[in-house]
This record gives sequence, C-alpha cells and structure tokens, in this order.
Amino acid sequence: MRKIKTIGVLTSGGDAPGMNGAIRAVVRAGIHYGMKVMGIRRGYTGLITGDMHEMNLRSVSDIIHRGGTILQTVRCPEFTTQEGMEKAMSMARVFSLDAVVVIGGDGSYMGAREISKLGMPVIGLPGTIDNDIACTDYTIGYDTALNTVQDAIDKIRDTAYSHERCSVVEVMGRNAGYIALNVGISGGAEVVLLPEKSFDMDSDVIKPIIEGRNRGKKNYIVIVAEGVGGAIELAKDIEKRTGLGSRATILGHLQRGGSPTVRDRVMSSIMGVKAVELLNDGIINRVVCFKEEKIVDFDIDEALSMKKTIEDEIIEISKILAL
Ligand code: ADP
Ligand code: F6P
Repeated sequence: MRKIKTIGVLTSGGDAPGMNGAIRAVVRAGIHYGMKVMGIRRGYTGLITGDMHEMNLRSVSDIIHRGGTILQTVRCPEFTTQEGMEKAMSMARVFSLDAVVVIGGDGSYMGAREISKLGMPVIGLPGTIDNDIACTDYTIGYDTALNTVQDAIDKIRDTAYSHERCSVVEVMGRNAGYIALNVGISGGAEVVLLPEKSFDMDSDVIKPIIEGRNRGKKNYIVIVAEGVGGAIELAKDIEKRTGLGSRATILGHLQRGGSPTVRDRVMSSIMGVKAVELLNDGIINRVVCFKEEKIVDFDIDEALSMKKTIEDEIIEISKILAL
C-alpha cells in the first residue's frame, strides 16, 4: 500500500464531549508524522460536498476543554445511497485524501465500512455518549454524560428529599441502558427501567416503592431510559397508585454537552493518536477500542459483527442496592 500522506477527519452521528480531544489528537499526530490533515465539516455531508479545509497545529488550540465538535456533525441520509457514496469518493479524490478517520457511533462505522469497500482506507474512533458500541468497553463522551446526569440527579434528590416525593428522571439512551443503569447505581435510584429489559409496572415499580415506604423510605428516584420513555405518565401513575407526590424530569440534550471529563479528554487523545499511528504503519480499516483496560484495534467488519449486552449481574447489583 502506498504511504498515506493526506488524511481527512470527521465527526458523525450524535455529538459527544471529547470529540474535540480526538480531532485535536488526529491533527497533531498527523502533523507529527508528516501528514496533511483535512478537517471535514458536518460529517459525511462535508465529504459529499467537499466542505473541508486543511488544519494546522493552531486550528486545534483551545478546544480540548470544549464540548460538542468544532467540525460539527449531521445525520446524512444521502450518504447511505450508492449515489451519495460515489459523490463522496470523487470528492475524496479531488482533495487527494488517502484515508478518513471517522469519529462516531456504529451507524457512522457502517458508513465508514461502505467507503472502505469502495477503496477509501478508514479508521473508526468510538464517539457516543451511549457507550453502545459492541467492540469497545468505553466510548468517547460516555464518562462526561454519566457525570452530567449524576450531577442532575443529586440536585433532583435534594428537592425530592425536601418534599418527600418520587422523582422520575428520564435519561438518554434510545436502545441502550448503560447511562440509566450506571447512574441508577451511582445515584442510589430505587427503580431503573432499561430498554433492554421489559418491566412490569406492579412488580418492578409500584411494589419496590411501597416496600420502601414500609421500611421508612420517604423519597425515591426512578430512572427511565429514553428508549423506555413515558416519564411523565409514569410519574402520574406512581402518584395515583401510591399517593406519593411524583414529578418527572426529562434531562434531554443537556446530557450531550459540557466540558469533557479528564477521562474523556485523555481517552480521546490517546485514541486519536492511535488512529494516526495505525495509518502511518499502513494498517487500515480498523476501529480503535478500549478492551480489558487496553487500547486495541479491530478490523471494522469484525467490530460491526460483535454484539454487546447489558450485564444481568450489574442489573441485579442495582436491585440489591435499591433495598
Ligand atoms: P451514530 O454514528 O451515532 O450511530 P447514526 O446511526 O445516525 O449515528 O449514523 C451516522 C451517519 O452514518 C448517518 O447519518 C449516515 O450518514 C451514516 N450511516 C449510518 N448507517 C449507514 C449505512 N448502513 N451505510 C452508509 N452510511 C451509514
Ligand atoms: O446516540 C446518542 C443519543 O444522544 C441517544 O442517546 C439519543 O437517543 C439520540 O442520540 C438523540 O439524537 P438526536 O436528538 O441528535 O436526534
């Protein structure tokens, strides 16, 4: 394979705190290894339209502490079509891109795999607050989102305590309950409802609240993942059936923003450098991951064939602790 001289970097799918750290690392490592680095704006849309510019050391100054992504991101349906992909490939040739680093979730990896099949070398970096990418135990943005949600739950608990109420808190995660389960444990929730597990209102929600009351509990936190939904109705139902004053809070997009934590800054930086080092060594079509406390990489096809399941043991632990 010929030496990689020019690489593109883009962020795609939902933004996540730490994406800027990854962009910064790709740019600085790329320049360190003598490459030209093109920042592609607005995900795959920028690849299709040629919305890209050369980045230098200073283009990524003062961004490591900022949430969001300086390159911006969109969901790009056109890219999923044959025509869109061909446009992207011809634009990549116009800008002499030898490889593209894609920072995003598994949808973005699917796009990356498609262009790799058309001859464009790619490297994927895991960027999503959901932590739902199968090949990796950690995704960029997850730690910041957990801490943001935890901070919100602590505040909600203060008022739930004062008023002796039940607070139903809806957290992000359409298909994945990692945020819900973990903040359920760290926030001392009485009930956690996950998209991966069906639940019964009587035995999984009302019963633990009533049993808690019989043991002297006065306030309650119920965490509902977005994929389960219905937080407002759930709060009304709890109030009706238990007589306990109940309020719903939907945390929404505040979970996606904010200054990245140290963990997200460090991990995104290490992963970004690793992506460039793979390319510099002529290793392509890989996804950088964190597995068993180590930074590793997998073939993109293998990565996309992996499955991730929420651990039943951790769900059980959260139930034991909710007593
Ligand atoms: P995430 O990367 O966070 O999972 P999405 O699932 O929205 O986010 O995917 C981001 C983008 O990746 C999509 O808007 C689309 O442009 C591209 N993409 C997703 N799936 C495919 C696919 N099967 N083929 C080509 N491109 C895809
Ligand atoms: O994938 C991250 C995520 O925040 C999910 O938790 C959520 O379901 C989704 O993105 C919302 O995306 P958007 O509001 O950008 O369409």
